[in-house]
Amino acid sequence: MTARIIDGKAIAAALRETIATRIAALPYRPGLAVILVGEDAASTVYVRNKDRAAKAAGLNASTIRLPAETSPASLLATIQSLNDDPDIDGILVQLPLPPHIATDVIIRAIDPAKDVDGFHPDNVAALALGAPSLVPCTPSGVMHLLHAAGTNISGARAVVLGRSNIVGRPMAALLLAADATTTIAHSRTANLPDECRRADILIAAVGRANMVTADWINPGATIIDVGINRTPDGTLTGDVDFAAALPIAGAITPVPGGVGPMTIACLLDNTLLAAGRRRGSKAGGSSSGAIPAMKSIAGTFGSSAPEPR
Ligand code: GUN
Repeated sequence: MTARIIDGKAIAAALRETIATRIAALPYRPGLAVILVGEDAASTVYVRNKDRAAKAAGLNASTIRLPAETSPASLLATIQSLNDDPDIDGILVQLPLPPHIATDVIIRAIDPAKDVDGFHPDNVAALALGAPSLVPCTPSGVMHLLHAAGTNISGARAVVLGRSNIVGRPMAALLLAADATTTIAHSRTANLPDECRRADILIAAVGRANMVTADWINPGATIIDVGINRTPDGTLTGDVDFAAALPIAGAITPVPGGVGPMTIACLLDNTLLAAGRRRGSKAGGSSSGAIPAMKSIAGTFGSSAPEPR
C-alpha cells in the first residue's frame, strides 16, 4: 500500500480562494497588522509570506518592522494604537521576540477580539472550554487537512506528538472537540514509539527531523507532519521520515507543501472572522464554518514558549 498524499498546497489555495471571494463581497476591507521585531531570518520570510497572502486575498495588510532593540514599552504602545484603530481587525506579533521582551506580557496586551493568532489567554481559555473564539492557525489548518482528506475523526485514536502552546496543546483540544480519543505524547512519554503506533491519526509537532520512523506508524494511519526542519544539506524535512512512512501510512502530508500553506490560509480566515465579529454579523464570517469540527469550537492557544521536549 502507498499512502495518499494530502496536498496542503492545493487545499490551502482553495481555502484562500473562498476567503478572497468573501472579502470581495464585503463593504470594507478587513485590516491585518503584522508586527516583526528584529531580523530573525525565518521570521522575516514568514512575515513576508503572510503579508503577500493577505494582500492577495484582498485584506488591508501592513507589516510594522521594529528594530531588535525596541523596548517592551514601545512595543506595548504600538499594540495599544492598533487595538484602538477601528480599521484594524487582526493583530499578529511574530514570534519569537527578542529575549529582553516578555512574550506573555505582549500577547496579553493584544485585544482578544483582534488576536488572530489565538494566543491571548482569553482565547486559550475559550478553546479549552469549547466556546467560539479565535483558534491558533496551525492546528486549525491541520483540522482543515483532516477534513479535506476525509479522515474519520470521531472515535479515532489521535496522538499529538509535542506539547507546545502554539501547536500541540491547541491541536489536542481541537481533536478532543471533534470527538477523537486524544493523547498528547512528549519527550517524557514512556514508550513513545508504542504510543504513536496506537494512533489512527498521528500529528507530529516536535521539530526534530525524521524523528518518526516506520516502526512508529500504525498501518493505514493518517499522518500530519507539522515539523519544518532544515537539514545540514539545506533541504527542508518534517518530523516524519516521509519515505519510510509512505508504504505504511494510509494518508500523509508532505514537507514542504502540507501543513505550512494551511497556517497562512487560516490566518486570513481568522482575520475575516475577527472582522465579521467586530463589525457586525453582515460583515463577514469564517470559512471554517464549513468544517464540522470547528463549529462547536473556537478559541485559542499559544505563547512563544519553546517546544518543551
Ligand atoms: N512563530 C512561529 N509560528 C508562529 C505563529 O503561528 N504565530 C506567530 N505570531 N509567530 C509564530
